[in-house]
Amino acid sequence: AAIEKGNFDHFMLKEIHEQPQTIQDSLRGRLNAEQGTITLSGLEKIQDKLREANRIVIVACGTSWHAGLIGEYLIEELCRLNVEVEYASEYRYRNPIVSPKDVILAISQSGETADTLVALENAKKQGATIFGIVNVVGSSIARLADAGAYTHAGPEIGVASTKAFTAQLAVLQLIALKLAEIRGTISNELFQTLLRELDDVPAKVEWVLKNQVENIKAIARGYKDAANFLYLGRGYNFPIALEGALKLKEITYIHAEGYPAAEMKHGPIALVDESLPVVFVATKDVYHEKIVSNIQEINARKGKVVAVVSEGDDAINDMAEAVMVVPACHEIVAPLVAVIPLQLLAYYIGVERGLDVDKPRNLAKSVTVE
Ligand code: G6P
Repeated sequence: AAIEKGNFDHFMLKEIHEQPQTIQDSLRGRLNAEQGTITLSGLEKIQDKLREANRIVIVACGTSWHAGLIGEYLIEELCRLNVEVEYASEYRYRNPIVSPKDVILAISQSGETADTLVALENAKKQGATIFGIVNVVGSSIARLADAGAYTHAGPEIGVASTKAFTAQLAVLQLIALKLAEIRGTISNELFQTLLRELDDVPAKVEWVLKNQVENIKAIARGYKDAANFLYLGRGYNFPIALEGALKLKEITYIHAEGYPAAEMKHGPIALVDESLPVVFVATKDVYHEKIVSNIQEINARKGKVVAVVSEGDDAINDMAEAVMVVPACHEIVAPLVAVIPLQLLAYYIGVERGLDVDKPRNLAKSVTVE
């Protein structure tokens, strides 16, 4: 059957709203929070390789590369294993050092991105083991991989990736947790806590979609004419700042840059004045005090602070011109929830500007040529 938009104006909006379900679909049959177990048959298939791996190399493009950055933080923290994240187009051409002890995580919604596919073919020839995190079943990358885990987000029609991204994050969470269990690098207590946190994510995403849409629409109206945006975050939320900026660029054609919040002092802060909206991804985590002081620095220069905050975080509420609220959650799963308001913000600014958000100019859903 043809895929329909249903009651939604655009596929992008429909796909944003599908996320409680699609995240659930990514976790189904894999995460069992009650029994406290994760089953990931693809990963178990390459257990021995993973036990002996020197490092993991994540290869991807675009939004999938942002998911990869979060994967790096997760796997390093939980599995104490070296991880590198590579743009497929760079990895492919720069004669990288590949060993048979490398495990490559390939992340791709379509499974057809040319640069990713060729980068993997090259690495495979040099003996690396390829693990695919792919949405489209039976796609070229899925077939090339030695093992893998499908993301199960269903067909994504909107050119700007939304539900495929959160599905990638959900699968990366499962991989990091399972691998930590296999490698014995996680306490049972933390393992169980994170399983429950992950299990709660779909309901928290649902909460954002129920309670924040009107607020975000109003914020979009207020900022739709800005010429530039800066997005800042730290830790697990730094890649979310990159992804928020990418969504805005893709859908609204407004120039946006994502940066690690502390790094703003080394350049972007020069741009800050009363005309620059600065979006902070500032959910409660170990960096909270630091990000609060970054917000103060922007305020002191009259930048307009918009922040994604955890429910009940009054400190930032008082410092920001506008806030988008998400339910409190463990910092490790926070990106899955924190990205939702940024997807909605880009969407509604695009709509306010009268643009065709499902088919942004010059972009392709899948880049199958170089
Ligand atoms: C294109 C799409 C992006 C996507 C990227 C990587 O640029 O517009 O949404 O993130 O390709 O695609 P892949 O299918 O490999 O995830």
